[in-house]
Parts: sequence; C-alpha cells; structure tokens
Amino acid sequence: MDKMKVIGGRALRGTVRTSGAKNSALKLLFASLLADGKHTFHNVPKLMDVDSSANLLESLGAKVVRNGHTVTVETRPPASFEAHYDLVRKMRASILCLGPLLAKYGQAQVSLPGGCAIGSRPINLHLDGMKAMGAEIELRGGYVHASAKRLKGANILFEFATVGGTENIMMAATLAEGVTVIENAAKEPEIVDLANYLIKMGAKIEGAGTSIIRIEGVEKLKPAEHTVIPDRIEAGTLIIAGAIAGGDVTVTDCVPEHLEALLLKLREAGYGIETSANSVRVRSTGGARCVDVTTAPHPGFPTDLQAQFMALMCVSEGVSVITETVFENRFMHVTELLRLGADVTPKSRVAVVRGRPGGLEGAPVMATDLRASASLVLAGLAARGETVVSRIYHLDRGYENLEQKLSSLGAGIERIVSDSSDDASETP
Ligand code: UD1
Repeated sequence: MDKMKVIGGRALRGTVRTSGAKNSALKLLFASLLADGKHTFHNVPKLMDVDSSANLLESLGAKVVRNGHTVTVETRPPASFEAHYDLVRKMRASILCLGPLLAKYGQAQVSLPGGCAIGSRPINLHLDGMKAMGAEIELRGGYVHASAKRLKGANILFEFATVGGTENIMMAATLAEGVTVIENAAKEPEIVDLANYLIKMGAKIEGAGTSIIRIEGVEKLKPAEHTVIPDRIEAGTLIIAGAIAGGDVTVTDCVPEHLEALLLKLREAGYGIETSANSVRVRSTGGARCVDVTTAPHPGFPTDLQAQFMALMCVSEGVSVITETVFENRFMHVTELLRLGADVTPKSRVAVVRGRPGGLEGAPVMATDLRASASLVLAGLAARGETVVSRIYHLDRGYENLEQKLSSLGAGIERIVSDSSDDASETP
C-alpha cells in the first residue's frame, strides 16, 4: 500500500491547474446509459473512481476507451441489468446507474452500497422518488430490484437536498412519460453540469442549479459530447494548501463562483484572496485567525472541504467551531490530527479547534476517507518535520496527481510506493 511522505515547513509558490470534477464525471459516465451509441467526455480526471465507473459500465455491456483526459463510452443494450456488489461497494456513486437503467430498460438490479466511513448514507430518498414515478422497488439479497413499464412524471419533494437523489431522479425523469418536478432539489454545480449534458442528449430540463427542477420526459435521447467542469473540491484543497503552507499560490482552470463559501471564510481568516474569471490566488499575510464554519448543501460551505479547512484552523490563531450538518460521522480525521499535535475536541457534529500556530509536529498518520486523507497531507505541510500518511488509496480515488501538483509549488512531498500490504489492520 502506497504512503505519502510530507516534509513540512516549506512555503508554497506558483501556479497549479485544477483537474475535471470527479463528482461530475462519474454521473456523466452513468448518464451515457440513457442513449445507445458513442458518448465523448473531455477533461475527465484520471482517478480510481473513474476507473471503477468504467468497470461498471463495461459490466453493463459498454465499451469504454480512455485517451488522455478524453473518455469515450459506447453503450448498447446490456445482457444483464445488474450492478454487482463487488463494483458498488468500491464506489457508492455506482447507485447512480439505477435511474438511467430503470428509465431506459424498465429494470435494474443494483447492489445496496452499505455504510461508509463518514456515515450511514441511505438512499431512501432516491427510492421513494422512483416509487413516486411508478417503479416497483424491492430490497432482496442486498440488492435493489427495480422495475417499471415506463416511468411516469411525478412531483417529488425531497426532505433533504440530496445530491445523488436529485441526479438519479433527474436522469430517470428524462425518459419518463410526462413532467417531473423536483422540489428542494440540490443546487450543486455538478447537477448543473449533468443537466447540461442531458440537455445536449435531447432532454428537456429547466431549473437545474435552483431548488426546483422541471423535467419533461422525451421518447428517446441521443449520445453527445461534453467537457467536465473543474473540480471545485480539488481547487479548494489546493487553495487551502497555499494558505496553510504560507506563500503565494494561484489555482487556475477553476470556477471561483463555485468556491464562494470557502473564499469568504479564507478572507475572514485574514488571507489575501484575488479572483479572475477562472483562477484564485491565495496569499498568506501572516497571523491567520480561526473562524467558525458550518457545512451545508451548496452554496453553503461544502462538507467535502470541512476536513481540509479544519487542518488550516489547527494552525491558526484563536478558536474555531466547526459544525458538520451533512454527514453524521465526518470527524474521523480528528484523532489523526491530534497525533500531529492539534488541539481539537469533537462532540457529535461539532468540533472545537483551539489553534496552535506553528504547533504541529510530523508523525505517522492514517487516512480514513478521501477528504480526511487530503486534510492530513495539508496538516503535514504545516507540521515540523516528517509526516507519513498511510492508506492513501483513499486519496487516489479523488485527487489526480496531488503530490506532483503540490511539489510543483515547492512542497516537500513524495509517494512511497509499496506493493506489500505492510499494515496488518488494513481493510479493503
Ligand atoms: C454528498 C454531498 C456532496 C458530496 C458527496 C461526496 C451534500 C449535500 N452532499 O453527496 O456534496 O460531494 O457527498 O462526499 O453536501 N440522505 C438521506 N436519504 C437519501 C439520500 C441522502 O437521508 O436517500 C441524506 C444523507 O444521509 C446526508 C444528506 O442526505 O445526510 C446528503 O446526502 P447526499 O447529498 O445524497 O449525498 P451524496 O449524493 O453522497
């Protein structure tokens, strides 16, 4: 299992490019199931989760070819409509093939994803929405068995603005009979990106990016070509890296409007932030302060940047209260940050961080999930001496070449490649 060695204390300087959005690319790949033929996607990041999606599409009869950052998916009617447990448990986003399969073929058997490190992550809202559209849903043998002659448009009010639920229902509704209205829809930029692709395929969708999305079902969709939007979470992570290590970093090829909640907090903490149409520059002017943060659905502060921001608060002046409202168990990074000398008290969904500027010291730590891994790497940039982060396969799920990107800015970071499972307690 590879590890990441970080030597802290070096200021970062320079310019770094954002890759395509993981959370958009995965959903776009699954949308290809809605129309037979050749779909072309550009700016697709090279990530393990994208490979997992390609494997799932191939198990459903598609041919997937990657050429650099362009991926073509050639879809045709599959022999079976099953998303197997072995594929789904590796990547929860696999549940997003349910809507397209059900809408196009009237049936799907998709493994239930199960729990994960950051919370129970149910899919009841996805299933309730599909039931409202006339689908028969049964849970048997760990699988969702879904069937419908043709889905029917429905009014669906989500109790929580679920990102995956909004995407699954939006895709299902494109081929349903009649009009579907999603209320309290999630407003994440990735939803807008997915809607834009579906519209290119011939879908009739209005309101994506607002809390009410209206989809008028059509008989048939056609394949199309699309460029994935920039990854706002990767961009945010690189911006926080620039902040935590001090110095002057410009993150390009991103969309600053997608990062407003983070930029607001960084300004409040005392960082110099400049934006252009597609870049963000962060400068450390010294003496950054702790600020409070509460995660919320977009346009609120993203839960996917909470762990990285906490690392920054650990080395800032004062006290910060961090509240996680999206997931119930998303403070797994805290115990590892404590190993680096941080002062954090978590209680339920609230963590109190007492900042210790210059107070972290390198240590071996273990990544527990994707964004927690990023937070430990960032904390390592600010710690004295050497931090070794193990289990970085989590990091490889969602960050393309993070170590190259950070070292190009002057960070002391290096991957320790190992093909042995040197950690007996390692779980898959
Ligand atoms: C979530 C994040 C998304 C992030 C992704 C990966 C939010 C709102 N969503 O999307 O930004 O990129 O994780 O980390 O920030 N829920 C239910 N029933 C359901 C579906 C969801 O109760 O059927 C609850 C979840 O338990 C959670 C909340 O709704 O508390 C948000 O979940 P959802 O947005 O669906 O999660 P993801 O789509 O995984």
